Amino acid sequence: MPRYTRESLEELRTRIDLVEVMRPHVDLKKAGASWKACCPFHDERTPSFVIGKGDSHYHCFGCGAHGDAIQFLMQHLKMDFADACQSLAERFQVPLKEVEGNGQQKDPGYSRGKLKEILEKASLLYQFMLLETDEGKSALKYMFERGITRDFLITFRIGLAPKHDGLLKRFLKSEGKVNDELLEAAGLINANKKEFFLERITFPIQDAQGAIIGFSARKFREEVFGGKYINTKETELFKKSRVLFGLSHSRKRIAKEKEAIIVEGQLDALRLIYNGFDFTVAALGTAFGDEHMRELIKLGVQRVFLLFDGDEAGFTAAIKVGDLFQKEGIEVRVGKMADGVDPDDLLLKEGPNGIVKTLFAADEYLLFLYEQLSKKFNPHSPAEKNQLVQEIAQRVRGWNNPVMIYESIKKLAHLAKVPEELLGSSIRSGVAPALLLRSGHALFHSGKKELVDPTAILEGDLLRLLIMVGGSKPEQFLCVRRNLNEEAFHYPLAKKLFLELIKSDAAKRPFDLLQLAESESDGQELAHYVSGLMRRRVNYEKAADLIAETVLKIKERNWLLARDEIMQKIQTTDKTDPQLLELVKRFDELKREPPKII
Ligand code: CTP
Ligand code: MN
Repeated sequence: MPRYTRESLEELRTRIDLVEVMRPHVDLKKAGASWKACCPFHDERTPSFVIGKGDSHYHCFGCGAHGDAIQFLMQHLKMDFADACQSLAERFQVPLKEVEGNGQQKDPGYSRGKLKEILEKASLLYQFMLLETDEGKSALKYMFERGITRDFLITFRIGLAPKHDGLLKRFLKSEGKVNDELLEAAGLINANKKEFFLERITFPIQDAQGAIIGFSARKFREEVFGGKYINTKETELFKKSRVLFGLSHSRKRIAKEKEAIIVEGQLDALRLIYNGFDFTVAALGTAFGDEHMRELIKLGVQRVFLLFDGDEAGFTAAIKVGDLFQKEGIEVRVGKMADGVDPDDLLLKEGPNGIVKTLFAADEYLLFLYEQLSKKFNPHSPAEKNQLVQEIAQRVRGWNNPVMIYESIKKLAHLAKVPEELLGSSIRSGVAPALLLRSGHALFHSGKKELVDPTAILEGDLLRLLIMVGGSKPEQFLCVRRNLNEEAFHYPLAKKLFLELIKSDAAKRPFDLLQLAESESDGQELAHYVSGLMRRRVNYEKAADLIAETVLKIKERNWLLARDEIMQKIQTTDKTDPQLLELVKRFDELKREPPKII
């Protein structure tokens, strides 16, 4: 992320007109010297959202929302800090200077706004070339043959880079103050001054707000030099590791519905968007990675559908990308494409229905993973099945969301038809499951059965979250204490740690690992356990929600166990025993009262 100099941020601050920034998004009405509107952050009929005359901050007297232009852009339009600064700097024409690593200022000599302007003009020429010139005819024919209409081409501003070098440069230079340095910075010419895109169909790459930041270009004649697609090289505007192709068309719906479809190719994305699946994005000329995911998380995505090509590369990518999202607690579904088919082909062949069917039939990530890895390890051989389960459990263990881990380990046990409580131990010791049937129980009591056993994971994660939020969230602590006592913990080390946490909370002293390690006879073991718990990456923002969610899961588990226990007693009690009635009554009561958070 770029860091800007203090001076340029200060200048930006003085130049921003808050009313002008907010007006396109909020219906501001003049009220005396100030402005009023219905608050964009909560539902209301009478306006309590106010910007005072010349104020740099808004304030809502209804919900208490309060902030400046940057906060507004971050909250309302889901931009990050740097995007918000840049967008404001362009709007109010403030040159933002970046601080470089050594504290030196960097002045590129051109602004991002200028780069966008020039790319916009290039796009106009490209569109004209494709739609209106003789030279465009064969490219047009190619697109029409692929079932792409004129309306489609216009909607997505698809164009044609001319065959001969020089035309674009002359066109842009005739339009005003443009030099080679600027053209190169925009990615339109190479260092040798030759135009970068020649004789290719161009697809504009747009930022989330729709401004063109580069192009992706496909050849339509085999003989043209280079790969099938080439993209603008990295520029000040285009960072391929984070740009999501299609986002300007899909942003609104993704933010609203918290779902996204991810595909591999540009045309896959565009054809899906065109056919009403306007919550689709693709990575560009690089694998879909962590930063791409962050862009979607910023929009609040909770579930993603992976519609990757039906080939080995597609499967491998789906495993990788799926893991990225699962790790963050975002649900992943993998759509199955027939052999050699991509979403573009599927839409052409079966129309939107084909996509709907595929989305509906999409597998949960864990099932997909199990099926894919079953191709590598034969689940009918005990040793290979152990490897299969081991590999999956290891992935699952790396995720951040305790409930998702807990559910997934249970699901994995079910898929592999392995008893849950053996799953953990088979992972640790690396012995075939059959051997563990005898030793599993002993391992539990030796305290070694940690981490992959669902019981240990669930309880451990709650404790991890509690340690994480520490004294900063007393209400979370109270919630845990209201809902759980030491009996609720079944894993021995977890029980002990829980008691320690309560002790330090009651004494109003911070939880101290070193102190713990010194003071207790098995303190070292406990400290070791804690450091194991803390090794996983944490998401502070979600901690509070996760604590409540995890507490409920533990209560639910205990509730089910209690029911099972009574049921077992009922089944083994003699029919004439007077106690039977009492047991049935208790079972009934329990059943009618599923656990909730109090
Ligand atoms: N790709 C690339 N360069 C290539 C080939 C592929 O950058 N030489 C990228 C493109 O983003 C492409 C994606 O990988 O969209 C998937 O490749 P592929 O399946 O071969 O292309 P399609 O998306 O099917 O493209 P088209 O339908 O136009 O053939
Ligand atoms: Mn294709």
